[in-house]
Amino acid sequence: MRTTQSTLQKMRDDGEKIAIVTCYDASFATVLENAGVDILLVGDSLGNVLQGRETTLPVTLDDMIYHTRCVVRGSSKAFVMVDMPFGTSQITPEDTFENAAELMAAGANMVKIEGGHIMAETVEFLTQRGIPVCAHIGLMPQSVHQLGGYKLQGESDHQAKQLMTDAVLLEKAGAGMLLMEVVPAALAKKITRKLSIPTVGIGAGVDCSAQVLVLYDMLGISSGRKARFMKNFMAGAGSIQAAVEIYVKEVKAGKFPGPEHGF
Ligand code: KIV
Repeated sequence: MRTTQSTLQKMRDDGEKIAIVTCYDASFATVLENAGVDILLVGDSLGNVLQGRETTLPVTLDDMIYHTRCVVRGSSKAFVMVDMPFGTSQITPEDTFENAAELMAAGANMVKIEGGHIMAETVEFLTQRGIPVCAHIGLMPQSVHQLGGYKLQGESDHQAKQLMTDAVLLEKAGAGMLLMEVVPAALAKKITRKLSIPTVGIGAGVDCSAQVLVLYDMLGISSGRKARFMKNFMAGAGSIQAAVEIYVKEVKAGKFPGPEHGF
């Protein structure tokens, strides 16, 4: 049976860390869930790592539907979270619902939407109509042009307060999870303590309820600059399955990310 949102909430309530890896195809889906990964994230990072694009902006809803179907076919236990690509959620709640419904029909268990308080109305609209939502704040790659690059978010007092306000509003609107990307570890810890839903960190310190990494980064096969929060789990591991098992073990033990991976 597939992991459900209530199982994930119970893991968070019991203090069990949740291990997440991005996944885009059936073969890796099987390997990842056999290695103990709790959530497979069909991330729009597929635009970067599969399609070789500079940003995630050109990824389409059809791309996400295709890869969601592949991941669902290759897995039977893991929870499947799917990104809503650029332009499919920054619209009316009604139109966002239609797009999200296509992802759910393809097999998603939850959709992930980038955006702070501005998305609260949409989150409420979707969750009241049966579509679980993970809200994504901090560094939002779909807003890279607005943010002026892939940089640390929430550093100033003003930004930190805004992120806390966003987090609280999104939870109130019905978000079932909150992902924080590249924010100071101390802020992520404060937000995690304030909320009752699981928080997911990437470059957000060890105190989040869950951790996520891009599959190709953790296998050491992504090109370009290596971000500080990445770790190559293939180093010293005999196989991909073993590398992912080490990642899961380190996340569950609170050993990854270390202070050297945070801000
Ligand atoms: O698309 C993606 O892979 C993501 C993660 C970086 C969190 O959203």
